[in-house]
Parts: sequence; structure tokens; C-alpha cells
Amino acid sequence: MNFHILTLFPEMVEAGLNTSILKRAIEGGFITIKATDIRDYTLDKHKKVDDYPYGGGAGMLMQAQPVFDAYKALEKNMDNRKPRVLFMTPQGRRFDQKFAEELSKEEDLIFLCGHYEGIDERVIEEIVTDEVSLGDFVLTGGELASMVMIDCISRLVPGVLGSEESAVDESFSDGLLEYPQYTRPEEWMGKRVPDVLLSGNHKEIAKWRTAKALERTKEKRPDMYKDMTDKLDTFKSQNPKKFRKKRSLEEDLMKMRELTAQMSEETKENEE
Ligand code: ADE
Repeated sequence: MNFHILTLFPEMVEAGLNTSILKRAIEGGFITIKATDIRDYTLDKHKKVDDYPYGGGAGMLMQAQPVFDAYKALEKNMDNRKPRVLFMTPQGRRFDQKFAEELSKEEDLIFLCGHYEGIDERVIEEIVTDEVSLGDFVLTGGELASMVMIDCISRLVPGVLGSEESAVDESFSDGLLEYPQYTRPEEWMGKRVPDVLLSGNHKEIAKWRTAKALERTKEKRPDMYKDMTDKLDTFKSQNPKKFRKKRSLEEDLMKMRELTAQMSEETKENEE
């Protein structure tokens, strides 16, 4: 996956993303991250890239020409590929894990980062395919937003996380929050690690973790909890024979996971 960022602050984006897991992913050849300085494309002799808005109003706007030329220079090196161009703006579609999964399937993504009061509308119309927002708040520019998105999308690209790390992902894709985790020592400030985690009984540990994930999701994200229980109910009604036995909610959920994994394994085998 290749991430291209059109920005007035290339060093901010590159420095921020070339660390830790993403640094390892770049070195391993799983992703590339390249920032293009929009200012390099201005035709203005003073290197100006912004101007006052027609009709008046506060602040300055990024001009269309340098943004467009920076984009065209990128496009020229992409032999006929037409990548999605994401414009970071509070007006856009809300970014979430599902959207990240969709974007992680692309070969190239271009992030257009606005600064100042925004960008001339004409170039947005000309090149942008998706407007994306991180949430209902306003940032000073799109750089931080694109960094958040690139971090999140990268960890979904095969190879970026080691196999141990990627297992952790399962719980979110299930639509549940993470269960609580503990490391040494067994007792800290009078608080003991739950006995079940020291028991070595993997089945009981998995059951406990699922129960805790459910408990947390119900308390902190009732909306997600409802989606999950609805999904489980639908699944049970579609596979009644597999759910005749009376089980607890966490056992039902584990059964659904097991059956879904089996089904996708069978589909894979049939495709081969
Ligand atoms: N740029 C400014 N505010 C933003 C937001 N909330 N999300 C994405 N990009 C932005």
C-alpha cells in the first residue's frame, strides 16, 4: 500500500509516521509513505500558495493551482491508475474501522491536507473522490487527520503487524471492546490479577475474556453492544441446529466466532 500526502508541512507528516510499527512496516516494504510539498508547485515567484477569499471573510485560502499541479505530478507517476483522493474535512464521511478496512484494500491512497481556512472549491471538485472527517471538531489542518488515518489503515495491511499483534484485532472486528489485560507482578497495590488468568486453562480464559469484553461494551458502548447482540440473534436464527444447547451469552458468541471462522475457511477451500 502506498500512501501519498499532499501537504504544506511534509516534514510533520513524515517524521510523525516514520516511527515504531510504521517505521518497521516501511523498512519491511509493506507500505510506503511519501509527502509532497504543495509549495514546490506554486508558480508564484514568492512561493505564495494562499490568498484572500473572494467575497471577504476571515483568513486565507489555499489556491487551486499549486494543489492541482502537485496532484498531477503524483498522478503522472502512477501509470494509468486512478487512486482515491481523500480530502480531510469536518464536512466529510465519518472515519471509522469499517471505512479503514475498505481503504486498506486500495493499492494507493492520496491524502489532501488543507490548511489555513480551507482550499479553493474548484480544485476540490476537480480531484477529490472522498471527503473524510475524523469527527465533529475542527483541526487547524488536515495533517493530523491524515496521520491518524494512515496509522489506522496501515495496521490492516497484511504483514504490517506481526501475527501475535494482529490477533488482538479480532476483538474489534467482532464489534466488541477489548477485555482488560494484566502483566507482572501478580499483585500490585493490593490488587490481584484475576485467578482465571493464572490458571493455564485456555478455554476458561477465553470465556472470561469474552464475558469481560461483553460487560465493558454493554457499559461503555451500549450502541455497539446492541449491534453485536442483534448480529448474534440473526446468526442463531439462521443456524438453529447449532444453537439447540442452552449456553451463556459469551458461549453463544464464541460458538458464532468458531462457526464463522469454519465457514470462511470452507469458502476459501472451495475457491482454491
Ligand atoms: N480538518 C479539520 N478538521 C478536521 C476534522 N474534524 N476531520 C478531518 N479533517 C479535518
